[in-house]
Amino acid sequence: MSIAFQPDLVENFFAVDVAAFTAGLAKLDEQIDSHEVPTRDSRYLALLDLLDQNRAACRRLEAEIGGSEVTLRETQRRFQEAISPWFQQSWMMNHALTKPQGYAGDYQMLTTIYEREAKSTGLGGLLDLFFLQTELGRAVPARKDALQDFLNSEFAAREGEIAVLDVACGPCREFADGVAVPPGRSVQVTFVDYDEDSLAYAQESLPESNDTLGFHFVRYNALRMQAPARFIGEHGKFDIVYSVGLCDYLNDRQLIAMLRGWRGMLRDDGVLYVAFKDMNCYDKTDYQWLVDWFFLERDEEDCRQLFVDAGYAPGEIAMQRDETGIIMNFSARQTPARRIDAPHDAVPRSAADSVQESQTQRLPK
Ligand SMILES: C[S@@+](CC[C@H](N)C(=O)[O-])C[C@H]1O[C@@H](n2cnc3c(N)ncnc32)[C@H](O)[C@@H]1O
Repeated sequence: MSIAFQPDLVENFFAVDVAAFTAGLAKLDEQIDSHEVPTRDSRYLALLDLLDQNRAACRRLEAEIGGSEVTLRETQRRFQEAISPWFQQSWMMNHALTKPQGYAGDYQMLTTIYEREAKSTGLGGLLDLFFLQTELGRAVPARKDALQDFLNSEFAAREGEIAVLDVACGPCREFADGVAVPPGRSVQVTFVDYDEDSLAYAQESLPESNDTLGFHFVRYNALRMQAPARFIGEHGKFDIVYSVGLCDYLNDRQLIAMLRGWRGMLRDDGVLYVAFKDMNCYDKTDYQWLVDWFFLERDEEDCRQLFVDAGYAPGEIAMQRDETGIIMNFSARQTPARRIDAPHDAVPRSAADSVQESQTQRLPK
């Protein structure tokens, strides 16, 4: 399809598909009291039908305009403006589009997804309910559940004092929902995030530290862990390093250096646990058209290759999916005989230079 045809395709999309979608939204809006608490009733089903038709139209247009990223982004922006009178009624849609913390997946959004309840009323509430049952709306809680299982089994398998690092911790919901520390163990968790509001929220919502479970909150730019010497100097090494919900936003170069850095932060017998979304297991259309939520697209092989490029042996890497099958939870165990010493020394200067300066702020709970 030639570039010259694109304006017609786009105009036709707005004149026909978007017009039908917005007319349907307006009609539904008239049928729903703005204070009504949403339920999955016949109007919700009507909304799902509309969204299905819209998704098909967006995918069709995307295929037709091909690889022109600029045209695509401009069209998505225009589309988001066209649907805004209805979509801004939804707390979740509005939050994911306006990004008050600078990105869609902030601690408030994650907490709302974990709560699994609509925040808005009226049509906005129905859109919240829809968001919660999308593929990623279901995968995010399942990812957290899988992480709880992983932590529980690691704590049970280890002895004595266990040092844990959570990179890009957000609301730290896995600990708020309960992780068991078996008798005889003492777990110290260092939570790292760059968003101070997120850390303050987590600190407020988690229980007080006690003899067996201690929490420490550190404001730090995770990208600086590509060269981890400073962090290790301040906080030591860890038995368990995990990061869930960050890696889908990082490019390959950043990730390879981060995986190397995290490896250097592990004690002997330590384990790294990292979650990725499988691009083949969810449809990105709703996240990119209805709101502005983009992830780097990777499949299992792509992720395994990142670990290998970071110096992990293929045999060290295990992967288990969450209940939805969308999330790939990779774990890589430190095997001392194969360990590569001082991996942070191997970070290319250019990668380290690209990392933004940030302050380290330790906030003991
Ligand atoms: C999608 S949330 C995941 C939160 C949490 N791990 C969870 O699964 O519920 C991503 C988190 O990464 C944090 N973040 C983004 N970039 C960061 C960076 N460079 N350094 C530290 N944290 C970062 C955000 O503030 C946000 O809390």
